[in-house]
Amino acid sequence: MSELLNLDLVRFAWEAKTDVLNIPSFSISNGQHTFIMGPSGCGKSTLLNLIGGVVVPQHGKVILNGVNTTQLRPSHRDRIRADTTGFIFQQFNLVPYLSAYENVLLPCQFSQARAENAIDQAGSAKRAADQLLLGFFADNVPDFNRPVAKLSVGQQQRVAAARALIGNPALIIADEPTSALDQDNRLRFMSLLLREADRRGSTLLFVSHDPTLADQFPKVCNMRQINQVPMR
Ligand SMILES: Nc1ncnc2c1ncn2[C@@H]1O[C@H](COP(=O)(O)OP(=O)(O)OP(=O)(O)O)[C@@H](O)[C@H]1O
Ligand SMILES: [Mg+2]
Repeated sequence: MSELLNLDLVRFAWEAKTDVLNIPSFSISNGQHTFIMGPSGCGKSTLLNLIGGVVVPQHGKVILNGVNTTQLRPSHRDRIRADTTGFIFQQFNLVPYLSAYENVLLPCQFSQARAENAIDQAGSAKRAADQLLLGFFADNVPDFNRPVAKLSVGQQQRVAAARALIGNPALIIADEPTSALDQDNRLRFMSLLLREADRRGSTLLFVSHDPTLADQFPKVCNMRQINQVPMR
């Protein structure tokens, strides 16, 4: 399997104070969906921000799809992030006054590569958004033209997942997006997410403090194994 992500001797501190992360080595192969577990405050979101190039480490390399993103100009790093990663945030970060369609289409405005992938796959970006939304909603389809603020939390989560997957980014980064759901819905969401990622050749990196979600993943890691900074 080819390498999708490699962290090498990475150290990171917010505002350059004490290290939050000290990671000698961590890697993910293409197709190797990965679950990272760890308690609140141990640095999971910080790690995802590093991987996505939202922040850069004080030391070490983050190699995403063969590119060391730590050495790029910020604008170049932003472009790599838009092309290569789809984020599903803890609070979804949908644009509330835009519709489900408009939210799902946003990554195609920021990334030419993802717009082209969506068009290749479905004929148009709009059709790609439609297929993704239908894949996530199956039998219970709301009006995708209404502002997303009017959807339930579970429905917003599905819109956020569709947005992350449009245009087949190599890496889907999910930051505990299931915490607002009950257990049945959590498991259903996970299997939909894994199915859609597989269909599109995207690899899922999912972080959570909830170990019951780990079963569905081929690779499961604990922050304790990855990060040398001791947990408080
Ligand atoms: N933007 C920031 N500025 C300064 N410190 C931060 C920032 N974000 C996080 N931290 C600090 O970094 C440490 C790790 O936080 P992080 O958000 O990565 O944890 P987490 O594992 O994602 O927690 P949770 O499970 O609660 O989401 C904490 O001590 C936190 O206070
Ligand atoms: Mg977090």
